[in-house]
Amino acid sequence: MTYKLEIELSTQKKQKPAADKLGFGKYYTDHMFIMDYHAGEGWVNPRIIPYQPLTLDPAAKVLHYGQTVFEGLKAYRTPDGQLQLFRPQKNFQRLNKSNDRLSIPAIDEEFALHALQQLVLADQDWVPEEQGTSLYIRPFIIATESSLGATSSTDYQFIIIMSPVGSYYAEGIHPVKIYVEPDYIRAVKGGVGFAKTAGNYAASLKAQDDAAAKGFAQVLWLDGVHRKYIEEVGSMNVFFKIAGKVITPALNGSILDGVVRNSIIQLLKHWNVPVEERALSIDEVYEAHKSGTLEEAFGTGTAAVISPIGELNWDGNQMIINDGMTGELSGKLYSTLTGVQNGTVEDELGWMVKLG
Ligand code: COI
Repeated sequence: MTYKLEIELSTQKKQKPAADKLGFGKYYTDHMFIMDYHAGEGWVNPRIIPYQPLTLDPAAKVLHYGQTVFEGLKAYRTPDGQLQLFRPQKNFQRLNKSNDRLSIPAIDEEFALHALQQLVLADQDWVPEEQGTSLYIRPFIIATESSLGATSSTDYQFIIIMSPVGSYYAEGIHPVKIYVEPDYIRAVKGGVGFAKTAGNYAASLKAQDDAAAKGFAQVLWLDGVHRKYIEEVGSMNVFFKIAGKVITPALNGSILDGVVRNSIIQLLKHWNVPVEERALSIDEVYEAHKSGTLEEAFGTGTAAVISPIGELNWDGNQMIINDGMTGELSGKLYSTLTGVQNGTVEDELGWMVKLG
């Protein structure tokens, strides 16, 4: 299907925040993208419009039953002023996988990428250039039908908003402290754990708040059946380097198929660093810590990039990893990945999509 993208440019430009004040997801650009879905018509009326509040019926299904999905990706400005996106196709593919699980109609991935490129170009002044900054892009879909019946919606909106960001964690790229969650679980196989949907995050907030009160940046989730296999961290996939090998939990249906996770695995293979995707128990990590073979740990995610883990707390056992410092491999992965994204390191694996 071919769509005609309407563009209405804003007559007012917002003031841009200073790069050192960005934080994460606090400021929004001048424009947004919207497209509607109506049963019987399909996806219609794609448009770029000035950034503005939404009008929703209080009975809109998203507000009651959480039928919604989202994505997160980033645009970067290279030293020669070129704008580029990091593997955007993977985000729209994953959006459709989440759509399928949440019973939301699929979007046209090629058109979504075209619309996103036009949106970034409309707001190109908002792509920051300072080290450690980028333009975070949040595509999402909400069920808009006004009906209190707990059935799939007949109407949806697909929206993209954008926010200039610095680092996700207050720690910046310094190692974070993570609490291994003993009571709550995030997801089980057959549920929605692999989908990027609001409920996964809503269900994690209580554990996250409790961990924050104890001084931890995030929680590490264990599987819901055996309560021992490592799944993921609040907003990141997770990797452990044990005796020279890098191990990350396999995609088992309950964890997120992270774009950065996938890229790190590709990069490690490209460097001939042994990497395994498999079930990894917390006991194995603890044993490795006790025997001195737990060399590094880090989380990966679009928002968090690569976040070294300096401390894990499991059942009262404190595991300080690499003396609480960023490990050599974590540091090399961070500088290579961000270098490719910022255009200062050659894109050997063909990840970047240039704009304009
Ligand atoms: C991302 O990394 O893009 C995410 O969606 C995680 C979110 C909790 C900020």
